[in-house]
Amino acid sequence: MDKPEVVLGVSGGIAAYKACELLRRLTESGHDVRVVPTASALHFVGEATWSALSGHPATTEVWESVHEVPHVRIGQSADLVVIAPATADLLAKAAHGLADDLLTNTLLTARCPVVFAPAMHTEMWEHPATQENVATLRRRGAIVIEPAVGRLTGVDTGKGRLPDPGEIFEVCRRVLARGTEALTADLAGRHVVVSAGGTREPLDPVRFLGNRSTGRQGYALARAAVARGARVTLVSANSELPDPAGADVVRAGTAAQLREAVLKAAADADAVVMAAAVADFRPARYAEGKIKKREGQEPEPLALVRNPDILAEISAERARPGQIVVGFAAETDDVLANGRAKLARKGCDLLVVNEVGEHKTFGAETNEAVVLGADGTETPVPYGPKGALADTVWDLVARRLG
Ligand code: CTP
Repeated sequence: MDKPEVVLGVSGGIAAYKACELLRRLTESGHDVRVVPTASALHFVGEATWSALSGHPATTEVWESVHEVPHVRIGQSADLVVIAPATADLLAKAAHGLADDLLTNTLLTARCPVVFAPAMHTEMWEHPATQENVATLRRRGAIVIEPAVGRLTGVDTGKGRLPDPGEIFEVCRRVLARGTEALTADLAGRHVVVSAGGTREPLDPVRFLGNRSTGRQGYALARAAVARGARVTLVSANSELPDPAGADVVRAGTAAQLREAVLKAAADADAVVMAAAVADFRPARYAEGKIKKREGQEPEPLALVRNPDILAEISAERARPGQIVVGFAAETDDVLANGRAKLARKGCDLLVVNEVGEHKTFGAETNEAVVLGADGTETPVPYGPKGALADTVWDLVARRLG
């Protein structure tokens, strides 16, 4: 199969360096990417970087390789155009149909979905001129991602930061997989709770019992739910991933803390997805001081006690009628049979079953799974990015919520 063709337009802002990370993600996930920088973008990141990372020349002007008619061809053959960063100037040109370089020509000839990821100072973003240009672009069907809030160039902070490259990649992936209508807000007005990461059960002030979960799948679920219009509470256990924009992030360390946070957030939730790897056991005793080795003595055996099963608890006592509860099952053998048994035992509506191993699932960008329904349904999710599995889970949840 031909690789999807993506045009990465880069306009002249300091955040251009972050577009290198977006480019890397796009190429590594099997996209053929053409970088079209503006002349001012090249002040921040040079042509050599773009062409080395993309494997194509990166030209800014329509006067290079004129016999190939690049100002028309690049836009016409693209499956997606993404502009990151999109400066106030670039947004203005796009809104008014100006075409004075290769990127703006490409925008006029492209008939595929176009995603803008703006980055600029807060004042420039909030200026009525920029806001009207953004509204114009959205009205015409372009996707303009809201800028993130945080540290800007220099000492000031505010709205205007380029969203995390992972977020921009996720929007691109969804639009390519499902078209722009995939961005409809079918979870608008809903509150969903997602737990993510892995709990750590302390043994003493320096040691804990933990697991390999990084939180990637749960964060992908949170991000996808935000994109579909939900209010999202992400209960995150020991994940180092950047906060997904638009989600309320609550931190939890141990299974007990995770339980408390999930129960609290679930009180008014339409759906709860337990993607966190929760420790089934914790040390029976917490040593206030560091456990020391003693010469000539065998270590004491480690006594463990059971942690409450949060998924079983919220499934048995739904905080509100019609609440949908989703669990995850990480299995190493007899994956489907164990999954069916676990679904029945836990009493949830959906169970995402995936096979795990040292180099499978944990920490990976990809996942392969089967979603089992309490109603007997079985939805296979082919090998692919964790965001794609997240979308399948939300499809199934949205259908059940009606
Ligand atoms: N889970 C939970 N509370 C626990 C343990 C697990 O809520 N104390 C949730 C996880 O978030 C996940 C699901 O239960 O959604 C499955 O967890 P898993 O550890 O695979 O299942 P277990 O019931 O522990 O079964 P087993 O140990 O036999 O694999």
